[in-house]
Amino acid sequence: MDNKVVSTIKNRVSCRNYSSKKVPLNKLKTIAECGMMAPSAMNKQIANILVLKSKNVIEKLRKLSLDVLGNDCFYGANNMIIVYGPKDNPFTLQDCSCILENMFIAASSLKINSCWINQVDKLLNDPKGKKVKKFLGLDDNVMVVGTCILGYCADESKLSIKPRKENFIKVI
Ligand SMILES: Cc1cc2nc3c(=O)[nH]c(=O)nc-3n(C[C@H](O)[C@H](O)[C@H](O)COP(=O)(O)O)c2cc1C
Repeated sequence: MDNKVVSTIKNRVSCRNYSSKKVPLNKLKTIAECGMMAPSAMNKQIANILVLKSKNVIEKLRKLSLDVLGNDCFYGANNMIIVYGPKDNPFTLQDCSCILENMFIAASSLKINSCWINQVDKLLNDPKGKKVKKFLGLDDNVMVVGTCILGYCADESKLSIKPRKENFIKVI
């Protein structure tokens, strides 16, 4: 089907190898706005989106990852958007996931590479991460569902769309 949105969705891939080039703030904001426009259960809009624009904050998170996990779980990315919501709400995972997916698609459409990073909640709840969590303004009653790392792939030739399993889609 010849449709730009369909083609963007079908060509999105996760990138784990970034150049140092920054994504302009206006593009990060556009991506965050696309996340904001995701559906939410009963339109309660319980989730929040945190765009990290300062290198200092990003480097704090990277250092935390190196300290706690022994590796940079952000793959050298210099741009990130954290998506979080209340720990005790039954729709936090669903709402945040919709936001994240909207952002991956928006990024892809803007020729910006991205990947879902899952480790941020664990990092921020580690004893070593409590200070960073406070610095980010996140209360103890919230959970980070996912972080969207963004940037420009250092080697596009290594990106490839992964094959999907057979019978993924069933039609009855
Ligand atoms: C819930 C979820 C958690 C993920 N966590 C990570 C992660 O922590 N690190 C990572 O490199 N990729 C992570 N990914 C990306 C997946 O590994 C990736 O989507 C999958 O391999 C399919 O590849 P594709 O995105 O290129 O289609 C996550 C994806 C989802 C949906």
